[in-house]
Amino acid sequence: MNAHFEFRSETTFPAAGSPEASEATIAIFGASGDLTARKLIPALFTLWHEGYLADHVPIVGVARREKTDEEFRAELLEPVRKHARVDSVSDEEWARFAQRLHYHQLDLSDVDGFAAFGQRLDTLESEAGMTDANRVVYLAVAPHLFEPSVDSLYQAGLVPTGDDASRLRVVIEKPFGTDLASARQLACDLGRMLEERQIYRIDHYLGKETVQNILLFRFGNGIFEPMLNRNHVDHVQITVAESQGMERGRGGYYDTSGALRDVLQNHVLQLLCLVGMEPPSLFRAEDIRDEKLKVLEALRPGRPGPASEWAVGGQYATAEIDGEQVNGYREEDRVPDDSRRETFVAMECRIDNWRWAGVPFYLRTGKRLPQKVTEIAVQFKTPPVNLFTTVECDEEICNLVGAQPNQLVFRIQPKEAIAMKFCTKRPGMQYQIHPVTMDFHYDEAFGDGLPEAYERLLLDVIRGDSTLFTRSDELEAAWKFVTPVLDWFESDAFQPAEYAAGSWGPAGAMELVERTGRAWRVPRTDG
Ligand code: BG6
Repeated sequence: MNAHFEFRSETTFPAAGSPEASEATIAIFGASGDLTARKLIPALFTLWHEGYLADHVPIVGVARREKTDEEFRAELLEPVRKHARVDSVSDEEWARFAQRLHYHQLDLSDVDGFAAFGQRLDTLESEAGMTDANRVVYLAVAPHLFEPSVDSLYQAGLVPTGDDASRLRVVIEKPFGTDLASARQLACDLGRMLEERQIYRIDHYLGKETVQNILLFRFGNGIFEPMLNRNHVDHVQITVAESQGMERGRGGYYDTSGALRDVLQNHVLQLLCLVGMEPPSLFRAEDIRDEKLKVLEALRPGRPGPASEWAVGGQYATAEIDGEQVNGYREEDRVPDDSRRETFVAMECRIDNWRWAGVPFYLRTGKRLPQKVTEIAVQFKTPPVNLFTTVECDEEICNLVGAQPNQLVFRIQPKEAIAMKFCTKRPGMQYQIHPVTMDFHYDEAFGDGLPEAYERLLLDVIRGDSTLFTRSDELEAAWKFVTPVLDWFESDAFQPAEYAAGSWGPAGAMELVERTGRAWRVPRTDG
């Protein structure tokens, strides 16, 4: 059993000082969609409520359907009440915010319509007293509409160039292609009309407070960084587990994607970059992205040979969870009953550089696992000699337990925490060893209510800070690394290994780690 220590925050939080309000015109294409209602407008409301967004900025929803400003405003009240990170939304406050919201009907392929859209933005900006305003265009639309939308903007003269280029920021969200070739094609299509600094590619994991804290923890403290390398670290595990299956009819999309494209190629590899990268010389967007790119370029399979030697793909099968029979993947809505799509992927890889050579990184992500949890666990080497032991009895089998490896765990979600496991002396007349955990919990130190990822990311776009966005060369390097596994999963030779819904994945995933005498951690979220 683990003892438990707590960290306390040494200053009161939040720090004094009021936020600086930023301004930019915000246009959201795909304004009738789920993302706009559930994430974007609630996040903008919270930013406005907290004083980060200037009072006068116009927010323009753009979609094909005919709708008045009033109708657009009315349909967003409920989602804001439900999803914005505020205690409550009074009628008076909503009335003030709603004045910021406008609706513009537009067909994304109608270039003349775009000219009128540009004039509408000019008018709204001049009414708001904004001259030479920065403009954010959020493409909350299907990926095949990224290029046509930008093309129409471009043809209508709405893409500034030269010194003014950075006044336009176009935001897109994954999928950025479905493989290396299509990702390159997308980069090339957008690159014909936009400069790299005008494109903000969202990976919402980078907007999570606890993900950003990995960098601060590593480079804002002096004592941990010297330990994070091949001399001291035995291996690293990154887990992005989800208990949900294909709720809300997601099976249709998911069956074209799978765990590798949906989560590993982006979220998991971004986490790996943050834990593996070198310190940048300055905390600036380009320096940080350069360091992340070096990690991706140094990524190698954990073993020589075909992808099946170092990766495992699985698919969940029906099972009972908490007394209820849940569907297997193939029984899910909109999933073909002979689908071979992977809902789980695990792999062993290495970062082939001076810091990490020889240290295995084990990655896993999947649907219908026992719990929703995201964590990075760094396991250190055991002491060179085992001087202390304890007798542990489990169902009458007694084991001698020696020094256990130290672990540093970043729990990204839920119950955001950083934990350090180490050994102590068990009280008594002998030298008996006992593992304990020192925990830092965000809610205990700072109270509840961490910012939502979209709040931080939207504010950064408005401010023109691209630190937390993925650059096209990072994206390409990530696709390149996963290509052998992707090719295997797409080939006729691939059959996903079955795992029971509610379990930690197929047996092959256990073997991947156990063949080296190691084991997956069972993530804990209960303390
Ligand atoms: C998305 C994936 O990018 O990330 C989803 O498309 C997944 O399938 C989600 O559920 C997980 O994000 P989070 O923030 O809930 O861990």
